[in-house]
Amino acid sequence: MRLAIIVAMAENRAIGRGGDLPWHLPEDLRHFKRLTTGKPIIMGRRTYETLPVALPARLSIVLTRDTAWRPKNIDPAAPPASDGTAVRIAPDLDTALSLCPEDAEEVFIGGGAEIYREALPRVDRIYLTLIHARPEADTFMPEWDESAFRQTSRRHRPAQGDEPACTFLTLDRIR
Ligand SMILES: NC(=O)c1ccc[n+]([C@@H]2O[C@H](COP(=O)([O-])OP(=O)(O)OC[C@H]3O[C@@H](n4cnc5c(N)ncnc54)[C@H](OP(=O)(O)O)[C@@H]3O)[C@@H](O)[C@H]2O)c1
Repeated sequence: MRLAIIVAMAENRAIGRGGDLPWHLPEDLRHFKRLTTGKPIIMGRRTYETLPVALPARLSIVLTRDTAWRPKNIDPAAPPASDGTAVRIAPDLDTALSLCPEDAEEVFIGGGAEIYREALPRVDRIYLTLIHARPEADTFMPEWDESAFRQTSRRHRPAQGDEPACTFLTLDRIR
């Protein structure tokens, strides 16, 4: 099982502002959907609460230390919907990983900053969308050891209208 971070980060390491993303970039949302659909995704409680509904066709595992917390509009004890939509709650990262199907080929870490910080030393891959802008933000991507990863794919997308340019990168841990 490959453990992979997926993150969109600006040149100043910004990833969030006011509980949302600091940019509007539909192409990155499509990229996120394409990569994560059908696969488990682990995220912090604050990131989960930014979503209007549970991510469709995915198992979302929400990290929280609050044993009373429950997601809105979905029962975390219910079996997955026919398209695979399900939400589970975990008190720590190891428990979250143990809730993933054993045959999952890839498990995503979907942020935010607290969860990325904890997962960075253990991930095999980082799907990084580098946003070519320096927006104001209140949440920033923690630093990682760049010498431990090598770039295995890269696709640049020029700016369009008020959407900033970005580069889709895959970074694989050097073994
Ligand atoms: N650009 C991107 O790719 C991207 C991706 C994701 C999120 N974001 C942005 O990032 C911001 C949210 O990030 P954030 O750093 O504020 O919050 P977060 O990491 O999403 O959530 C933090 C919460 O997760 C729980 N938590 C954290 N570590 C835990 C652990 N080890 N065990 C159990 N629970 C744990 C705690 O919940 P409790 O307080 O309930 O205990 C904590 O308050 C938003 O602005 C969002 O839009 C951006």
